[in-house]
This record gives sequence, C-alpha cells and structure tokens, in this order.
Amino acid sequence: MSYFERIKEYKIKESPIIMGIETSCDETAVAIIKNGREILADEIISSATEHAKFGGVVPEIASRTHTTAILTATKNALDKAGLTLNDIDAFAVTQGAGLLGALLVGVSFAKSLAFSTGKPLIPVSHIRGHISASYLADKKLEPPFITILASGGHTAIVAVEDYYNINVLGSTLDDAVGEAFDKVARVLGLSYPGGPNVERLAKEGKNVIALPKMLKNYNGGEFDFSYSGLKTAVINYVHNQTAKGESVNKADVACSFQCSAIDVLIDKAVLASKKFGYKTICVSGGVGANGYLREKLTERANKEKIKLVLPEKRYCTDNGAMIGAEGYLQYKKGNFANLELNASAVIPLK
Ligand code: KG4
Ligand code: ZN
Repeated sequence: MSYFERIKEYKIKESPIIMGIETSCDETAVAIIKNGREILADEIISSATEHAKFGGVVPEIASRTHTTAILTATKNALDKAGLTLNDIDAFAVTQGAGLLGALLVGVSFAKSLAFSTGKPLIPVSHIRGHISASYLADKKLEPPFITILASGGHTAIVAVEDYYNINVLGSTLDDAVGEAFDKVARVLGLSYPGGPNVERLAKEGKNVIALPKMLKNYNGGEFDFSYSGLKTAVINYVHNQTAKGESVNKADVACSFQCSAIDVLIDKAVLASKKFGYKTICVSGGVGANGYLREKLTERANKEKIKLVLPEKRYCTDNGAMIGAEGYLQYKKGNFANLELNASAVIPLK
C-alpha cells in the first residue's frame, strides 16, 4: 500500500500531538503541540547573526543552516517533550511563503518524517501560522476576532471569521511594516535584524521629526497601508541633513519613524473592530514583538473596552509552535498532502 493510500485510511484523533516545522526564513524552528493549544516543546535555532554580517538575510546561508540545524532542533524538541517520533500524530510544515531554498529544507524533512512514520503530512501557510499563534497565547480564544498582521512580508488588518475563513479588510499597497523597519535600520547604520534595533534606539529618542502621517487622509481602502512613502521620507531626511552638514539625531529619527509606522496599525485595527463589531483584537507577525506597539495597543484596547490577545514576543516572530497550532486546525479537516508536496515562495493571503 502506498503512503497516500495508507493516509486516506488514517483516523483523525481527538487530541493529536502535532510537530510544527518552520524554515521559511532564518529561523529553524520545531515545536510539538498537543491538542492545538498546549506547547510541549518549542525549539528555535536562529541564523540571524550569520546574516547580520551581510546586512540582511542571505538565502543560501539560510538554507545551509537549516540543513544542519533541523536535526538538532527536532531531536531537542522530542527530548524536551519526552517523546519519540512514533508519538507524533502528524507533521505540519510551512509550505510558503518564504525563501524557496529555505522552505524546501523543511518540506523535504517533514516529508521524510511523515513517510518513515506513516503519519499525515500537513502543509501550512506561514501567514495563517502567524495568526494561529494567538490560539496558543489565549487557550480560550475563539474566532471571530480582528488580527493585526504585521511581519517582514505582510501588513494587513484581517478579520478572522472562524477557524478557517479569514477576510483581509485591507493590506499594504507597497512595503510591509517590518520591511520598513529593516530599511530604516539600514539607513541609521543599525545591524540586522532591523526591527528590534530600531525599537532599542527609539527608546532614547523623541517623536519630534515631522514624517508623513501615513494614509490618514488616504481615500483608497480604509484599511490599507502604505509604508514606502514613510520609509522614503526617513531616508530623505537623513540624506538632506547630512548634505547640509547638519547632525542627525538617530534616536529621534527611530522614535518618530516607529510612532508613524505603528500608530496607524493601531488606529486601523480599532476602527475595524468598531466598524464591524469585533470584540477582540489579536496581534500576529514579527512586528507584534515591538514594545511600543504592545504598550500603546494595550492602553487603547483598555480605553475602548476591546479584549486584546498579545502572543509572547517569541510567538510573534517566526516559530514552530504557530505552525503546529495551524497544523492542528488543518489536521481536524484532514487537509493532508501527498509526498509530491512542493514549497511555494508565494502564497496568497486568504
Ligand atoms: O514574522 P517575522 O518573524 O518574519 C516574517 O514572516 O516576515 O517578521 C520579521 C519582521 C522583520 O522585518 C523584523 O525587523 C520585524 O519583524 N521585527 C520587529 C521587531 N521584531 C521583529 N519590528 C519592530 N520591532 C520589533 N521588536
Ligand atoms: Zn513570519
């Protein structure tokens, strides 16, 4: 009997133990999740310091690091959970979006585990994974809710209508917010990864530099964003000051940029929750780890009497637990792949 014939006969379990594997960028992450919400183990091996030397992620270095780190991460996760491979009920893996070579390492590895154990292989969308991190943060969380999706590749206000249906209310027309953080970090001479370094510097500065208040007066989609103008304004400001021989207060630039970039995310999420009557806002994606966002959004949610779910910072940035959490939802639907599964650099946000 072929692998897929066996999987067709597979009986879905009530409380499965799922391994989540994530290799879309520079984190090799493997987690073990019980019943969709309980983290039994969660290993992350980052190659960020390798990329920092080059100012950004080098895809070839990311792929090579995954090939060596993935076995260690898996072994450590199993050891920490006190389990063996045979205890895992299904293998969920990020199929995309991300760096193709990096994704292929995780996909190939997950296929081999699924094949050798005879257990289901579950392809997971990285973005849906980010959204599902909120189910780990609040074990009682149920849709509907609004999520602010803010990562290095995506920026959107998403209405999560039920566990499977999401409605993108608006998204960025150009750069993603994380990408803008990374580019501003570069112009300020800060190393990769840019977001946390901009945040650190911003703490020493003030919001005193006039930057475009993004899309405040934009008459296109009410929930859309545009980060390219803000990024360019920061770059122009730094270059103009330097050309005039005037000093640049980098901390003020970082703080002013951060306020402009984040305030609009909060405003639009609150607007969406009020307009459509959603009582909960969640945060997903790497920029969700930003302390200013977390603080301001907490204040605002309290004021507006909106429930807020903020996953721990570790579960905002890339991790395997979120892939296990989303894998659980797909497992319950029997959305299993065969061994021809391929990675995909782009996956539509839907
Ligand atoms: O979700 P993520 O880990 O990977 C993608 O799916 O893109 O997000 C990475 C992005 C990067 O652009 C990084 O600079 C940003 O999240 N980021 C932050 C912070 N931590 C990570 N941006 C602002 N403040 C942070 N503390
Ligand atoms: Zn991500």
